[in-house]
Amino acid sequence: MAKNWTPSSWRDLPILQQPEYPDAAKLADVEKALTTVPPLVFAGEARSLKKSLGDVAEGKAFALMGGDCAESFAEFHPDNIRDTFRVILQMAFVLTFGAAMPVVKIGRMAGQFAKPRSAPTETQGDVTLDSYRGDMVNAMPFTEADRVPDPERLMRVYNQSAATLNLLRAFAQGGYADLNKVHQWTLGFIADSPEAHRYQDLADRLDETLAFMAACGLTAQNTPQLRETDFYTAHEALLLNYEQALTRVDSTSGDWYDTSAHFVWIGDRTRQPDHAHVEFMRGIANPIGMKCGPTTDPDELIRLIDILNPDNVPGRLTLISRMSSEKVLEMLPPLLRRVKSEGRNVAWVCDPMHGNVIKSSTGYKTRPFDRILTEVKGFFEAHEAEGTYAGGVHLEMTGQNVTECTGGAVAITDADLSDRYHTHCDPRLNAQQSLELAFLLAEELKSVRTAQAPARAAS
Ligand code: PEP
Ligand code: CO
Repeated sequence: MAKNWTPSSWRDLPILQQPEYPDAAKLADVEKALTTVPPLVFAGEARSLKKSLGDVAEGKAFALMGGDCAESFAEFHPDNIRDTFRVILQMAFVLTFGAAMPVVKIGRMAGQFAKPRSAPTETQGDVTLDSYRGDMVNAMPFTEADRVPDPERLMRVYNQSAATLNLLRAFAQGGYADLNKVHQWTLGFIADSPEAHRYQDLADRLDETLAFMAACGLTAQNTPQLRETDFYTAHEALLLNYEQALTRVDSTSGDWYDTSAHFVWIGDRTRQPDHAHVEFMRGIANPIGMKCGPTTDPDELIRLIDILNPDNVPGRLTLISRMSSEKVLEMLPPLLRRVKSEGRNVAWVCDPMHGNVIKSSTGYKTRPFDRILTEVKGFFEAHEAEGTYAGGVHLEMTGQNVTECTGGAVAITDADLSDRYHTHCDPRLNAQQSLELAFLLAEELKSVRTAQAPARAAS
């Protein structure tokens, strides 16, 4: 267990990106109430994910993380949960074919409600109010009442996360994820797209394989791996009072687990080694992540790895690179080289979203699909050059037919953005763009695999 650590030791340290609640007594009441609610996940599940991410760190599995930039109270609906879940399933299926290895599925879901912001306040005309920090803190409309941080929202987040996770568990374990249903995962509105046709071709191949396996005696009835899947949840651990309240001792190991999600990560703006977020995260036993943006210094990265993963356990720490399409080939290789030369076991995952936000000519915050692809390709190229393993992707995406990122095979233009721009924070890939990206990723993974095959055969 981490030395000199308690679930509240972060409170003695400087902390960034926290709301200022006007009503401290109300906040204390909600925090207290949260300490007695049931955990959302079990320690054993977090350990399974850590093991799977250990496989990612060792080049034996690929991680797919995806979901909203920010979940919201307004978009809380079973259909939205289902649609995002099934696009992740579809992508995982495409990737499994490309990579010929397990795909670890992790949703930015059931807890992803708090947002770090570039400025603490927002000004419109001559009015200045607190920035919107996600539904976990305040509300989006630009009025004084909406922008006041309200502690009750923490409890609402817990309740919505519990209900979301309940449905996700039912989908993952209750038959929806059965591989015999791959055809049915296709969403109606993308049924006619080129990606959907490619997907159907792949699904036909799977049908043949499943028929062959059934002839050999392996069916969904007798083989749980065909019938169900492991699906994990993740979010940025930004509001540490919420995370602390859900941090509990696991009775079997005696370790502390943050039971708000299987996996939690430190954002790019809150990864200072001597600040509160790093302190909190070092003490929980969950698998954890840390975003690495262009300001990540190799020396500081090693220092952070030493704090967050002192025992060098593969799967404990996932580094999520978000350099931007322009900087990835300049900024990522020195980090890969340093981490490798120091013998640190980490999983490397690419977030091609957060470095690639631009303002469209029509005034919307958007991300061009081409830049997203360029960063993903740069991520693979950097790993290939350094002899390290490109272990996964971390995406902001939705199963809805939104128009938030430009480009893609069915090209969304700047003018189209206003049609269905629903995000509560950053622009997401829609279902079709997500699937298109999955096919491109599958090709990358396949080429990595075929490039390695002769080496393997020779060794
Ligand atoms: C996010 O993942 O939504 C986010 C804010 O990312 P980052 O910390 O990398 O900016
Ligand atoms: Co975001």
